[in-house]
Amino acid sequence: MNAGILGLGKYLPERVLTNADLEEIVDTSDEWIRTRTGIEERRIAGDEISTSYMATEAAKEAIHNAGLTAEDIDMILVATVTPDYGFPSVASMVQHNLGARQVPAMDVSAACAGFIYATVTAKQFIESGTAKHVLVIGVEKLSKITDYTDRNTCVLFGDAAGAAVIGPVSDNKGVLSFELGTDGSGLKHLFQDEDFIYMNGREVFKFAVRQMGESSLNVIEAANLEKEDVDYFIPHQANLRIMESARQRLGVPFEKMAYTVNKYGNTSSSTIPIALYEALEEGKVKEDDVIVMVGFGGGLSWGALTLRWGK
Ligand code: ACO
Repeated sequence: MNAGILGLGKYLPERVLTNADLEEIVDTSDEWIRTRTGIEERRIAGDEISTSYMATEAAKEAIHNAGLTAEDIDMILVATVTPDYGFPSVASMVQHNLGARQVPAMDVSAACAGFIYATVTAKQFIESGTAKHVLVIGVEKLSKITDYTDRNTCVLFGDAAGAAVIGPVSDNKGVLSFELGTDGSGLKHLFQDEDFIYMNGREVFKFAVRQMGESSLNVIEAANLEKEDVDYFIPHQANLRIMESARQRLGVPFEKMAYTVNKYGNTSSSTIPIALYEALEEGKVKEDDVIVMVGFGGGLSWGALTLRWGK
């Protein structure tokens, strides 16, 4: 039995923070932000919109799109570094909000690689027969740990949620291969210091460029595929220059790469499910397409997988 995606959902706060807005807050320019990152605007959740609220909204849509109800969910995994509380987990709040059964629910902390980590975890439970339908959510309210006086970081981040119901699919579909990894020696380059995100942009940039390309090639090989077999590439949406370098290593044309960082900025664990959701909506991913997803972030951690679309 293989595990694949049965339905997707997303939630984006309505409030838009543009580069022009940021020019009013810190010493930056639209031109600098666009050329260095590819970001034009991002969404910001106000005080009234919590991480668990965004997660719940995305989850409801994913469950609906999977043709299921909350009753059908056997496990809830929430990838986040911005939970509402230290405890309980966002996952337990989602379980309650959805009116789901009293199933296992926990958060996964792997920063921007979190959605891949949680999806791979879901796959283990499904393939072992322990669970049938696992709700996986990537959600972040990064605005609450972003220092809006620090121009090095505040231009990069946004708030959003993406969700997927993972469940059994036919043998040749679903997740074909994966790779997860962590190098804790690099934690000093990207972490939450007291209240806010600290980032050594240049070091993270170097790590990301190397790891995104390498992990993508590793999972393609592990699935017995060639680079030419890749129909759609979904890199974590952190910075267009990093994404471009990974895309070029894979030899995938630009139009076959997800590109949402311009609209939403870096929303950490939620970028990959949101990008897949929008690719499907726009008809860029079809039945039987081979998709490569790759994320990297604080840890330093990374995760990649190949997936053949369809049930
Ligand atoms: N506006 C104007 N100037 C700025 C800004 C800004 N918003 N931010 C930095 N600068 C300045 C710097 O102060 C520096 O000035 P100096 O030379 O006088 O000191 C200059 O611009 C160049 O800075 P660099 O760091 O060399 O710029 P770079 O081209 O590396 O781009 C960036 C910076 C965009 C942050 C890049 O390094 C990057 O994208 N790094 C990776 C970030 C990333 O992917 N993070 C993922 C986090 S994932 C997670 O786990 C949450």
